[in-house]
Amino acid sequence: MPMLKIFVGTMYGGALDVAEQVKPLFEEAGFEVAILENPVLEDLTGSDTDLALFCVSTTGSGDYPGNFVPFARAIAEQSPGLSSLRYGLIALGDSSYGETFCGAGRQLDELLQGQGAQRLGERLEVDAMETFMADDAALPWAEEWIESQALKVA
Ligand SMILES: Cc1cc2nc3c(=O)[nH]c(=O)nc-3n(C[C@H](O)[C@H](O)[C@H](O)COP(=O)(O)O)c2cc1C
Repeated sequence: MPMLKIFVGTMYGGALDVAEQVKPLFEEAGFEVAILENPVLEDLTGSDTDLALFCVSTTGSGDYPGNFVPFARAIAEQSPGLSSLRYGLIALGDSSYGETFCGAGRQLDELLQGQGAQRLGERLEVDAMETFMADDAALPWAEEWIESQALKVA
């Protein structure tokens, strides 16, 4: 069974909730799913990662949540090269923060692509000003992502 790892960056649990809500969709699609609340670089570079999904909120002024900082720093500093990685990204933010809206998710996207990773489909940006429960946006996005990227495992 292929492995989907969901990497979570969260301050208040919203992004973790999204990860937990979308998990069954991927299980139904034939994946083994692991949710990583305190990810380390080896979780990403290990040969058992067939697909990655990042659920990351933004704090401060466009910053990564604390639990995600060491992981993102390790990618930037150790520059592992991720050309075999395919991933999706769900960014949580709040447009009332203006220019730093979904800053962590956007930063992460750039970081991963800079390492040669391939994003499948578009990044989802969930705006807390418009969507009270992030799941309401994330669930349909995940369904569509599985469909449009033909992720279902026979
Ligand atoms: C102190 C603080 C700073 C924040 N800074 C930003 C920001 O710079 N950009 C943004 O888009 N959202 C920002 N947000 C909004 C959060 O990203 C948003 O509420 C998100 O849904 C929280 O998800 P979580 O529960 O996974 O932490 C901030 C929220 C707080 C409380």
